[in-house]
Amino acid sequence: MVSFTALVTALTAVASTASANPIANMMARGIQPGTGTHNGFFYSYWKDNGGSVDYNNGERGSYKVSWNNVNNWVGGKGWNPGTPKKVAYNGTWNNYNVNSYLALYGWTRSPLVEYYIVEAYGNYNPASQAKLLGTLEDDGGVYDIYNTKRYNQPSIEGTATFDQYWSVRRVKRVGGVIDTQKHFDEWKRQGKLTLGSWNYMIMATEGYQSSGSSQIEVKAA
Ligand SMILES: *[C@@H]1O[C@H](CO)[C@@H](O)[C@H](O)[C@H]1NC(C)=O
Repeated sequence: MVSFTALVTALTAVASTASANPIANMMARGIQPGTGTHNGFFYSYWKDNGGSVDYNNGERGSYKVSWNNVNNWVGGKGWNPGTPKKVAYNGTWNNYNVNSYLALYGWTRSPLVEYYIVEAYGNYNPASQAKLLGTLEDDGGVYDIYNTKRYNQPSIEGTATFDQYWSVRRVKRVGGVIDTQKHFDEWKRQGKLTLGSWNYMIMATEGYQSSGSSQIEVKAA
């Protein structure tokens, strides 16, 4: 039979282990929604209500994520401010049968704009409800340029009404170099779509009413 003192000592040890280590492990394992820097890269991870996301920053500009039954989530690594640059990325994204995007994704302010250079998308084409404004070529692929408007939606300035600018690659790919300046210039020239002051720019994975996963690494080319 264990003595009372030994039992208390044992339980105290278990309690302090339980209160310290699992929390530390949880923090190391998954990032909570928000923004920050990791290995010299900016990261952003946002989700609304419903489902779960296990987002983890990895080596260099990499991240690994899986999501389960979310309503909407978007996140990834990049820069803030995201000034025009050539962005190289590689990794794994295999969500062709669910609603998901792999995109260079960012924001500007004044005007408030949410933009996407879509490299691959799943079972929903983001351009299907948008107005076609032109095309451009980048890194051997053709992208269609679109514009949409969002009313009273979440933004970097809280709930707001703002434009979305889109380049959508006709032939989907996972890996390559995106010359963002080219897109910004053609959006303006062909679509009269002007950007404001640079906010963040990330190589993002997005999931909408879906489950999926990806592992992506980004760097300046
Ligand atoms: C990206 O490519 C580098 C260099 O080949 C490789 O080390 C890294 O594992 C790749 N990252 C991902 C997420 O696949």
